Amino acid sequence: MTHSDPRDPLEAAARHAHAWLASLDTRSVAATVSRDELRRRFEAPLPERGVPAAAVVDDLAGAAEGGQLASGSGRFFAWVIGGALPSSVAAEWLVSAWDQNATIYATSPVASVVEEVAGQWLLDLFRLPRTSSFAFTTGCQMAHFTALSAAREQVLRQVGWDVGRQGMSGSPPIRLLVSAIRHVSLDRALRYLGIGKDQLHVLPVEADGGIAPGTLSAALTVDGPTIVCLNAGDLNTGAFDDFRALVPLAHARGAWVHVDGAFGLFGRASRRYDALVEGMELADSWATDCHKWLNVPQDSGFVAVRHPDAHRRAMTIVDSYFVAEDKARDEIDWTPEWSRRARGFGVYAALRELGREGVAALIERNGAQCEALASGMAALPGVELVSPPRLNQALVRFLDLRDGATDANHDARTERVITAINASGEAFFGPSTWKGQRVMRICVVNWRTTTRDVERTIAAVRHALTIA
Ligand SMILES: Cc1ncc(COP(=O)(O)O)c(C=O)c1O
Repeated sequence: MTHSDPRDPLEAAARHAHAWLASLDTRSVAATVSRDELRRRFEAPLPERGVPAAAVVDDLAGAAEGGQLASGSGRFFAWVIGGALPSSVAAEWLVSAWDQNATIYATSPVASVVEEVAGQWLLDLFRLPRTSSFAFTTGCQMAHFTALSAAREQVLRQVGWDVGRQGMSGSPPIRLLVSAIRHVSLDRALRYLGIGKDQLHVLPVEADGGIAPGTLSAALTVDGPTIVCLNAGDLNTGAFDDFRALVPLAHARGAWVHVDGAFGLFGRASRRYDALVEGMELADSWATDCHKWLNVPQDSGFVAVRHPDAHRRAMTIVDSYFVAEDKARDEIDWTPEWSRRARGFGVYAALRELGREGVAALIERNGAQCEALASGMAALPGVELVSPPRLNQALVRFLDLRDGATDANHDARTERVITAINASGEAFFGPSTWKGQRVMRICVVNWRTTTRDVERTIAAVRHALTIA
């Protein structure tokens, strides 16, 4: 391996990063080396002596080769991961170089101001109340945690309980009304907040994946502190709850409404999806991810809260060594962390690169590509469209075409076809179980995906069907 100029690790990193990005169109989307091989490359006793920084970067890039999933590729459709826009990748490099600690204004004035601006831009993009407070978190998981901390604080305060002072043991019980198809990151956020699984009141959903107003009304008849969690984009079907109908019902009973919009909140960036997202602005808190559909590199969640006082009370902490700056935004008032990455820069860069129109175009383009992938696959022999495209999600399964094939055979064929597609390196999908059947998820969430990527992917599926 050739080593770069030892004085220049950043040049080395830039070279490797360029090579990686340039290869996304041609390299295997799947990782190509085994765990054993990766361990062989990396495993070693803790080094006694150091080596020049540029050599570290070169060696790292060399040893990592093939161990990465090319999730930034335009033919990656698994989970909900999202690509990375060039400006936000570059901004994240600067964030690392500047190494700002975005805890309070005093530890990085510019990080505080940029978060302030980027947060306002997101409220504007999502058409949420501009007086909402917000925070940049590691992801949607911690956005839920932050929002639900504020919710817990407010619903308990309404019955005279100060959770910050009195804690949770002995507190009045909180009723948690959640959808049967919620993302489990909500359960985990609630667990962190002292609310266990058995305390969740799970509401069944209708055929469209939404909670019926009658179901919610019936669950709201019990008085007391109540939080309702609604879905903006189920990760299997893209299902949305009917916010216009449900939020007023919850508010009429004094409940707090939280929305999981990990990717679905971005539906509000385009008028095309108004039928799905209308009424979402009525809720009390919203959680989303900029590392998903805004295509900022990972570690970029966002939470907005209609009630800044509750949000601040749930998060803030003060110590004598802080330096307070009048009127400045201290991030620690709004986030669960102390020292933290300056997350506003990547978001600011992505929003500047795309603008409001560019974000809308990205959402609409990916939505159309999801439709093209679903219809292109459904036209192939033995492919069943299990859930039609909604926003950017669809489900298909691959049938075992032998006479008398059972559901178990269809499940097994679905697994085999997904494995064959991923092994081809041409495209990458993930499985899921939907209504008891194994399915393949189609999730389109990347600025890089082109019409050509869609065609290549359908060709890869066609080929996989011939061998699996
Ligand atoms: C609907 C939904 N909510 C929450 C999450 C959790 O987000 P994160 O991984 O950013 O914490 C995800 C992740 O895919 C999701 O799809």
